[in-house]
Amino acid sequence: MKLVKVKDYQEMSKKAAQIIMDQVKTKPDAVLGMATGETVIGTYEYIVKNFKQELLSFKQVSTVNLDEYIGVKRSHPTSYYYFMNEKLFKYIDIPHDHVHIPNGSGTDLQAECEEYEGIIERLGGVDLQLLGIGHNGHIGFNEPGTPFQTRTHIVKLAESTRDANARFFKTREEVPTHAITMGIETITKSRKILLLVSGKEKAPIMERLINGEVEECVPASILKLHPSVTIIADEDALSMLENDCVKVLTHD
Ligand code: F6R
Repeated sequence: MKLVKVKDYQEMSKKAAQIIMDQVKTKPDAVLGMATGETVIGTYEYIVKNFKQELLSFKQVSTVNLDEYIGVKRSHPTSYYYFMNEKLFKYIDIPHDHVHIPNGSGTDLQAECEEYEGIIERLGGVDLQLLGIGHNGHIGFNEPGTPFQTRTHIVKLAESTRDANARFFKTREEVPTHAITMGIETITKSRKILLLVSGKEKAPIMERLINGEVEECVPASILKLHPSVTIIADEDALSMLENDCVKVLTHD
């Protein structure tokens, strides 16, 4: 695991956007794994701001998103489909049919999960997967205790995740109880992984991730076994770690 320590959210976002844009420059038909949530908004803003100046095209790129709520229509502002369109896709030249997001309002959700795995396989796997981390260590919506071998599946969201995501809804009751998510095995099959972590409220989980064991009660801990993971974390997110420990892990 390579840990890149940055000053703040802006610097994290800028570096992450550069890594994603470099991936597209070196492989114009790259398959990008996308995430939603507050952590990645700045990264998408940088990409949108820079893609014209960088003479970058996403015409050959394909994307697969990590997850989607169940029971929320794609046209609804709280859906991840809507989020991706508003934050990124409508500003870049990616063809509509190259964008893949689980459909959480379909009628056969089990078939949707299997089909999603098929899509990733047909695309030849993910080149670069972008991730955020939940306060409880979740990646995608794989909550603590999810077996490491899971593929795309339906999950019941932890109440702490519903609390954390309530800020995007009018009331706590509106936060969906279930979602479709890529599984942990699906995520870790990606050739490269980029995990972004920002803010003091993520400091306890960062401390646990860096100093703790690889265990299913901290889903993100599996990333320690992956051959190509870069974590970009800001000073606040690393504030519970000893400086020496950060140095040992930092190569940049
Ligand atoms: C989103 C996702 C989640 C978030 C995580 C952090 O697609 O899969 O794992 O990355 O919940 O969310 P924020 O960035 O809002 O703190």
